[in-house]
Amino acid sequence: MKAIVAVNNKLIWNCPEDLKLFRKLTTEKVNGRKPRLLAGFNTFVNLPILEDREVILDKRNGFILDVDWVIGGAKTYEKYKDYINEWHVSYIDNNSEGDTYFNKELLKNKLVHEYYFR
Ligand SMILES: NC(=O)c1ccc[n+]([C@@H]2O[C@H](COP(=O)([O-])OP(=O)(O)OC[C@H]3O[C@@H](n4cnc5c(N)ncnc54)[C@H](OP(=O)(O)O)[C@@H]3O)[C@@H](O)[C@H]2O)c1
Repeated sequence: MKAIVAVNNKLIWNCPEDLKLFRKLTTEKVNGRKPRLLAGFNTFVNLPILEDREVILDKRNGFILDVDWVIGGAKTYEKYKDYINEWHVSYIDNNSEGDTYFNKELLKNKLVHEYYFR
């Protein structure tokens, strides 16, 4: 089964529990400071939930490594796959079609935390 992350640069489901989890995880302090989140361009401009966070925009030509979370999207996960040690993955039931997909191969041989929502 394919893992959809978006369509037309938007999330296709409305899952408050997942957003709550995202917020909880990505606001927990790291060494006493606010966590640094890295986002790809399409995610950065399309996710309003990020307003109050310290979000670093990925560089088109280059890497940014001093971050605590890579928050997507699909292309950014691929780009940073070798530097991501641990994944937090939410599975949400949905029958819609998408146009952006998560490559599940990226989870192989990594520590994966899984969450299931309806
Ligand atoms: N379901 C989830 O958990 C989840 C999580 C995060 C994001 N998302 C969704 O995933 C979608 C985005 O994923 P994505 O893989 O398309 O993108 P992305 O990883 O967020 O960003 C990378 C994309 O941005 C482009 N880009 C980089 N710099 C740019 C610039 N200056 N101007 C224009 N484009 C630029 C890149 O183009 P080049 O390849 O040409 O450089 C690449 O296509 C969004 O809809 C977001 O809401 C979903």
